[in-house]
Amino acid sequence: MMAQMRGLFITFEGGEGSGKTTQIKSLSDWIVDRLPSASLCQTREPGGTKEAESIRALLLNGAASKWQPATEAMMMSASRHEHVVHVIRPALENGDIVICDRFSDSTHVYQGYVGGVDQTLLDGLDRLSCQGLVPDLTLLLDLDSHVGLARTYQRGSAERRFEAKGAAFHQRVRQGFLQRAECYPGRIVKIDAARPAIDVTDDVIAAVRRLLAKNGFNVTD
Ligand SMILES: Nc1ncnc2c1ncn2[C@@H]1O[C@H](COP(=O)(O)OP(=O)(O)OP(=O)(O)O)[C@@H](O)[C@H]1O
Ligand SMILES: [Mg+2]
Repeated sequence: MMAQMRGLFITFEGGEGSGKTTQIKSLSDWIVDRLPSASLCQTREPGGTKEAESIRALLLNGAASKWQPATEAMMMSASRHEHVVHVIRPALENGDIVICDRFSDSTHVYQGYVGGVDQTLLDGLDRLSCQGLVPDLTLLLDLDSHVGLARTYQRGSAERRFEAKGAAFHQRVRQGFLQRAECYPGRIVKIDAARPAIDVTDDVIAAVRRLLAKNGFNVTD
């Protein structure tokens, strides 16, 4: 039986270069400013613990086709389990606001919708790796995949394995995220990420404000 969760679990999802890391930074700054008493846990997937980061290195580097989608799904789940057990769940039990850069929706999209791994099997892997933990709020940054990839090339990146998978792959990723958002309308908030970052941040904050209000957090104006 899982201990009572007192914190909030917020995830960011979206294709390559959609602005997840940029928006997480802005949201974190806003929380520190407006909720000074809150403790914040900022983390990412795959990775988030020393051991899970070593799985990340295997997944995100090297030739685009070096792993089968099912292998990726199991590696993502292995990494996620370490992350949930050692970082996310303890932080939530401590009352933290946990902000995670990608989580299991990415696995359902990249390895499931695009990679063809059965979604029911992925639900089973979620039960094993997350032990019932589901985000309170997921912000989906929706962006044309060509625009997103162009942004990552301009930014530069050491972890190119998924970026190298080609234009059709990334268009499918966008479609997969949109379909997932339709399946979970109460949890996943879709945000138009093609606008200037500051406008995207306004929508991110509006969604987080609603979540905070619903959970009795007092935001200073
Ligand atoms: N709204 C925006 N408009 C234009 N450029 C942006 C916007 N948001 C972020 N960028 C820039 O696009 C690049 C990619 O952004 P960011 O790294 O935040 O995306 P990401 O979703 O985290 O990417 P990845 O999937 O590679 O982790 C960065 O150089 C960032 O400064
Ligand atoms: Mg990023």
